[in-house]
Amino acid sequence: MATAPAETVEKDYFTDLSVLLDPYEYFEQIRAHGPIYQMKSRDVVVVTGFQESIDILLNTRDFSSWLNPDPLAKLPFEITSDDISEQLDATSSTNIELMVSYDGEKHTTARSLLNPLFTPSRLKANEEFMRDYADEMVREMVAKGGCELINEVATPYVTMVIADLLGVPAEDREKFRAIIDSGPPPGNMNAGDEGQSVHPLMMMGSFFARYIAERRETPQDDVMTEMALAKYPDGSTPDAMEVVKSAMFLFAAGQDTSAKLIGNAMRRLTEDPELQQQLREDRSLIPGFLEEVLRLEGSTKATFRIAKRKTMIGDMEIPAGKRVVVSMSAANRDPRRWDDPNEFRIGRPKIKEHLAFGRGAHTCAGAPLARAEVAVIMDRFFEHTSSIDLSEQHHGPKGDRRIDYEPSYIIRGLANLHVELTPR
Ligand code: HEM
Repeated sequence: MATAPAETVEKDYFTDLSVLLDPYEYFEQIRAHGPIYQMKSRDVVVVTGFQESIDILLNTRDFSSWLNPDPLAKLPFEITSDDISEQLDATSSTNIELMVSYDGEKHTTARSLLNPLFTPSRLKANEEFMRDYADEMVREMVAKGGCELINEVATPYVTMVIADLLGVPAEDREKFRAIIDSGPPPGNMNAGDEGQSVHPLMMMGSFFARYIAERRETPQDDVMTEMALAKYPDGSTPDAMEVVKSAMFLFAAGQDTSAKLIGNAMRRLTEDPELQQQLREDRSLIPGFLEEVLRLEGSTKATFRIAKRKTMIGDMEIPAGKRVVVSMSAANRDPRRWDDPNEFRIGRPKIKEHLAFGRGAHTCAGAPLARAEVAVIMDRFFEHTSSIDLSEQHHGPKGDRRIDYEPSYIIRGLANLHVELTPR
């Protein structure tokens, strides 16, 4: 087994800027030590193996999601035994509890509140909204010759898609758009609210609290009423706040992730004119193209677990309380699973087995929506342009690009992407 230079493997996954900006070299170097790597500076293991990642995500008996989305959250108790499952169950990890951090039945019941949203008819109606909204935005950007894709187009687009999915009333949509435009995007689950007295997510939350209260009082024939009146699987009625939290979590979970996927996909197209032409001529290739973008540059780098009890990952013994970084980005480039893993190749067999949307009980609830919304906006860009090019004025010439990625240990995505759009 090859050994990696000590200075790279000892970099801190959570704080080293070079790793936050570009994790792939780091992952490859720790992979040289095997599929599970014990960090030197922290009591954390990083998993880069494809099969090992799946094993952990499926093993909800031994691994908890308790610490999501904050992998370094402090345990409120001492670890004094080989089994901390009851202590974890008895405490909440974050101030605002999120479904992504729940385990077992608590998780199943919270997730069930999303059921009314993800029905085929709801998704179909949502897709019609996507098409119209994307078309309008793309036309506007083409008319002015270009745009900064991430903040001007991708972020507001995916946020409005979620607002539509949730059935935000038409008269409030512009207010939502204004909230998004006024502050840092609510998509980053770790985002602080610097410079803003009220975080955008909280502002949206207050709208939802009102909608749910009104619909419970006076039901209407709309999606919000279905959310408001949804029952838990045991027939009980959830607290209104639980419904609001589920709705708000969709903005948190589905915004940066999808917006950054649009950016990652578009960057690849601008850097590879031949590929762009191929997709332009045959738009049925878009879904396969997106799966390969998700594999090679999915917008969620990692998720986190904590061992509930002493267990094993592969041949490594894992004590109770050990924190685990499950790196989907690394698993998706594991050479034991993928031939020539660093090569971009449309049409790989069983490509949908990639882990960009996770696996198991917490598999991304919004995956069908994410796939649809990114495919739709790509299609609209092809419809209205003859060429999409990276702005050299902002990013420099080929071979000497200046591209800024968000410094995040969760999200892989561009801070901005300036493109020039040539009308068709
Ligand atoms: C490209 C876009 C997206 C990516 C890469 C992505 C990725 C993920 C991943 C990896 C997880 C699993 C986390 C874990 O196992 O701990 C997850 C969970 C989740 N995602 Fe997504 N996501 C995307 C878009 C969306 C959208 C658009 C929505 C909703 C509209 C959404 C809603 C959710 C929800 C609700 C969960 C939590 C599921 C649970 O805990 O049961 N995601 N996502």
